Amino acid sequence: MSDFFEAGVVSVPSNFGPLRDADGNARVTGPCGDTMEFWISVIDGVVDDARYTSDGCMASNACGSLAAILARGRTPTEVENISQEEILSRARGIPESDRHCALLASNAIQAAVADYRRRNFASLRSGEKRAANARSIVQPRPSLIVSCRGTDGRDNALVVAYGSNCSYDPCAVMVGIVPTRFSYRLIKESGCFVVNIPSIHQRALYDYLGSHSGRDGDKLAVSGARCVDGDVVRAPLLVDCPVNIECVVTDSIVAGSHELFIGKIQKVHADSELVSDDGSVDWNKISLLQ
Ligand SMILES: Cc1cc2nc3c(=O)[nH]c(=O)nc-3n(C[C@H](O)[C@H](O)[C@H](O)COP(=O)(O)O)c2cc1C
Repeated sequence: MSDFFEAGVVSVPSNFGPLRDADGNARVTGPCGDTMEFWISVIDGVVDDARYTSDGCMASNACGSLAAILARGRTPTEVENISQEEILSRARGIPESDRHCALLASNAIQAAVADYRRRNFASLRSGEKRAANARSIVQPRPSLIVSCRGTDGRDNALVVAYGSNCSYDPCAVMVGIVPTRFSYRLIKESGCFVVNIPSIHQRALYDYLGSHSGRDGDKLAVSGARCVDGDVVRAPLLVDCPVNIECVVTDSIVAGSHELFIGKIQKVHADSELVSDDGSVDWNKISLLQ
């Protein structure tokens, strides 16, 4: 056992968190299932204090505590360089089977620095620009599920990130669909679709619909999605999604990889708890998928 263990690190060391009013904070779960959380405070460009918590074993606590000690007095960039190896080289006696705890500590403290950088991005900007890749550059991208029905009555749905409001008079949205998608033919045939806006509770459904094709089977049945028919259009609404927008295709534009379907909105269905007296949807009441 190392001095570190023997020094009693496992009995709540002084750098065991949380840290109030931290400038950066992150929680990371390692492959072993242990979760480590770090807080850092930064004064004059240097980490003034660092604290950790861990729900893991003795080695996990030892590595977390040591990473916090190593972070103090270093710049955020230097903290980002605190590696598994550096932690292991200081925490002598970590059993071979627990060396991953040092990686967890390294990842967690680096994540806290990343959070610090996000929070302080405005003050960290140098003012210089450089060229970046254009693909999917407009952010944040929406997380939408578009459902549709072919003329043969076949229902399907896919995840769409290329979507947006595109007109308020008349109210219309656009969704970009790649022609190779199974859904593409269904929307082309029927001339309508439904945009379903999922909340964080539809994560599993979203992941499934975005990674499987209706060409290989009935996705909606397999995923257990609850559907009802649209009131106006011939397409299913995914009722578990808090907002569903029935649309009729009025135009489409081939932009390149995606064909942009302009959908004139026929009816919006929103969970009643979300709808204000003036009919607007109160988006603050739900956590949307990001
Ligand atoms: C996050 C995410 C965003 C996606 N965005 C789009 C999109 O905007 N347009 C599109 O055609 N496919 C998009 N896809 C891919 C389709 O959802 C996916 O290929 C789906 O399996 C197609 O189903 P289908 O063949 O049954 O129509 C996205 C997938 C994911 C995971």
